[in-house]
Amino acid sequence: MIYPDNWIDYELIDHGLGRKLERFGEVVLDRPEPSANWKKSKPANEWNRAEAVFTENKNQKGSWNKDLNDWNISYPFGDSEIIFKLSQGSFKHPGIFPEQAENWRFIRNKCIELIGKGITPKFLNLFAYTGGASLAADLSGAEVTHIDSVKSVVNWARENAELNNIDSIRWIVEDAPTFVEKEIRRGNKYHGIIMDPPIFGLGPKGGRWKLNRDLPKLIENVMKLLDEKNRFFIMNTYSPQLPLNDLEKILSALPDFPTTFEATTLGLMSTPGKELPLGNLVRF
Ligand SMILES: C[S@@+](CC[C@H](N)C(=O)[O-])C[C@H]1O[C@@H](n2cnc3c(N)ncnc32)[C@H](O)[C@@H]1O
Repeated sequence: MIYPDNWIDYELIDHGLGRKLERFGEVVLDRPEPSANWKKSKPANEWNRAEAVFTENKNQKGSWNKDLNDWNISYPFGDSEIIFKLSQGSFKHPGIFPEQAENWRFIRNKCIELIGKGITPKFLNLFAYTGGASLAADLSGAEVTHIDSVKSVVNWARENAELNNIDSIRWIVEDAPTFVEKEIRRGNKYHGIIMDPPIFGLGPKGGRWKLNRDLPKLIENVMKLLDEKNRFFIMNTYSPQLPLNDLEKILSALPDFPTTFEATTLGLMSTPGKELPLGNLVRF
């Protein structure tokens, strides 16, 4: 398992019994975590520190027991930082997937390599949410295209960009597979692509995305958008129904997917030193 190790404003305090206890800046949250099906390491009085507790109801939606004002946190990035606005909503995620910081580091290193070769990296973020990878790529010197099918989420990403004084990202509200098909027809190419498809999703016109059905075709198409020589690719999947072995089999059956790539589990390490695996990560 790999995990980011340089967060200051984020801490995984503990996990267990289907929950995780985390600090985002000064704010401690208690949220559901289906993969944490073991005992907690810390006693109840630690867990009682949580300022807000999320309870899931149906279709991953739910509610917080207390309303908090929006707040910002920052992630140390190169000589600088990335600032994020966090907010409560009807989903358990406050606007960031902290484990993704490991990919932001990877993006930075790849962009530095490309720039060293005299290339301005063109970077595509599919299923981009609040834009962590888009901000990381922009701050690393890339020209960024950011795609998400939910307008309010893209607006949140734009707010994050403003917080970081970034005004050069191309924002697009569109179904990711549809955008990829259009880009193939337009003959456009990218040096770096990240994709983080959900298990189920919606396109802006009500079309449906299903990971297990639609993933192989999407990866096949995404490979057509990558520059042949100077390129990098990152994919995360968070579905318990798609174990890493199965994902690797899907990838090795795709004609244009490289034979050498990194395939691992992405997760977080808690303060007491216990791993929390969160999803599959494939990259090259
Ligand atoms: C798991 S989140 C991605 C998190 C992101 N990797 C990060 O670290 O910030 C999935 C995102 O996919 C978006 N989404 C769902 N279906 C989509 C589709 N068909 N096309 C584009 N975006 C979609 C959702 O709005 C959500 O923002």
